[in-house]
Amino acid sequence: MLAIIGGSGLAKLAGLGNVRREVVRTPYGDPSCALTHGELDGRPIVFLARHGYGHTLAPHEINYRANVFALKRVGVERVVAVATVGGIRADCVAGALVVPDQIVDYTWGRGHTFFEGADQPVTHVDFTWPYDASVREQVLEAARRCGEPVVDGAVYGCTQGPRLETAAEIERLARDGCDLVGMTGMPEAALAREAGLAYAALCVVANEAAGRGKSRAGISLTDIPVVLDAAMGRVRRLLAEVARG
Ligand code: HPA
Repeated sequence: MLAIIGGSGLAKLAGLGNVRREVVRTPYGDPSCALTHGELDGRPIVFLARHGYGHTLAPHEINYRANVFALKRVGVERVVAVATVGGIRADCVAGALVVPDQIVDYTWGRGHTFFEGADQPVTHVDFTWPYDASVREQVLEAARRCGEPVVDGAVYGCTQGPRLETAAEIERLARDGCDLVGMTGMPEAALAREAGLAYAALCVVANEAAGRGKSRAGISLTDIPVVLDAAMGRVRRLLAEVARG
């Protein structure tokens, strides 16, 4: 079964049929919200709003472990995680859709592993390629089928937030090889790997990152919802195509 995790601008998935909500409790506490089971283009999917349905949780307040555990518990095998980002690389302009292939993690203090505590064995998962190759390909193939241009491959730098970055921090991220900057990609991707979920991300560029291009003097917080509103229709069509397979 496929799950879609929705980020900022995608707290609900319009067009879901036969909707049923399920509250899942986990040993790690409560997920961001009840899971929504429904049909996208006739195919069963599970939807989870990462920030809660009312967008009440900041990136560092999200219980990533509970979210991933809940998806696993209801039988999810594949996850497409939608996340808004700032663009660092020149082709990652506002409104672009990007399927990243690498991660640099700058977050701290988040519950980031299932393998801790007296009852858990010390376990190291391989994370050389943090995103599942076949789910990435399914997203890219769906984009080709619906004629949606998507950037294939980018390094996602995950910052702690909730504040946006300084221009110097973005320069450092660029020197580190980051093409995108977001706040929610980690530890979500690593937890999915630990849980054995095949996970890939679909990033929506909301703005040029701090100090770059149109954001040279500052990031316009009023432009971001306009860009996201315009992009989410394309994201929804693409996700329906992914579900169709
Ligand atoms: N930085 C971090 N996260 C983001 C940004 C950004 O510029 N835009 C959207 N999410």
